[in-house]
Amino acid sequence: MPGRFLFCFTLFMYQYGVSDSYRAVILMHGILSSQTSLNNIEQYIKQAHPGTETLNVNAFNDLDSLQPMWTQVTQISGVMKKFMDAHPQGVHMICYSQGGLICRGVLESLSSHNVHNFISLSSPQGGMYGVPNMVKPFVPNISSKYIYRVFYTPRGQNVSIANYWYDPYHLDLFKQPSLKVFLAQLNNQAPNPQGNAFKNNFLKIKNLIMIGGPDDGVITPWQSSHFGSFDEKGKIKEMEEQEYFVKDSFGLKTLANRGALQKYIIPGVKHTHWPHNQNVFKTYMEKWLD
Ligand SMILES: *[C@@H]1O[C@H](CO)[C@@H](O)[C@H](O)[C@H]1NC(C)=O
Ligand SMILES: *[C@@H]1O[C@H](CO)[C@@H](O)[C@H](O)[C@H]1NC(C)=O
Repeated sequence: MPGRFLFCFTLFMYQYGVSDSYRAVILMHGILSSQTSLNNIEQYIKQAHPGTETLNVNAFNDLDSLQPMWTQVTQISGVMKKFMDAHPQGVHMICYSQGGLICRGVLESLSSHNVHNFISLSSPQGGMYGVPNMVKPFVPNISSKYIYRVFYTPRGQNVSIANYWYDPYHLDLFKQPSLKVFLAQLNNQAPNPQGNAFKNNFLKIKNLIMIGGPDDGVITPWQSSHFGSFDEKGKIKEMEEQEYFVKDSFGLKTLANRGALQKYIIPGVKHTHWPHNQNVFKTYMEKWLD
């Protein structure tokens, strides 16, 4: 009898993940790269918390990462959902660069997600106003000032960066309903029939951890990693001043009031180094992977 009980109990623990001491972690890579860019961070997790299961998303790698954001989110959402279902005790997310916006797209559009802590690692949550050098070969060679003329058109929206291009001088175009700009929809700045659902889904996370810093060199402005952007005078508009924060359009203010927003500003780290810096992992991420 006791043997049988032990067997059943062990099976129960296995089924429900009670024996896992740490929640599983989903990793999402950035633009023009692949899962291999997050291999180091995956190792840091397993060193710090042996036995942690991880899903390092192997999709939309390299050139495919330039595809429209909703195309990517829709497919990746399915992959992540399977992993979430296999870990009913909940998962964490570490999403790097453009990957942070992919993850936000998943968190807002997937009602049944079970994400506890969402770590946004140098991700342009406030949008981009500047084309990184590595992306330049794939977009028209026009200065940031004028590229909205291409990006804020249906054809221009076929490349991922155009879906989160945040031109402070042309927010009217960014928000125009017919264009359905990905970031405008995530921010609920453009009419979105799923707006309420997006907010409710996003609010299911326990904490949002935002990591970025002034020496990043790619995220423009770097404050975008904390929902900052340029304003129409070229100055920085911080998260708290953003219209979508003030109106609590998608739950950011609720998270802030709940004490669920963690903002880390870390100098001395270049954009490509974030996922390879074990000190950044140890100091700012490890504690959130409980
Ligand atoms: C992009 O445009 C600038 C200014 O017109 C020009 O100097 C530069 O050579 C162009 N670069 C490419 C790759 O065409
Ligand atoms: C987007 O569309 C433009 C114009 O049709 C085309 O030149 C470009 O190659 C397309 N880009 C992608 C990533 O599909």
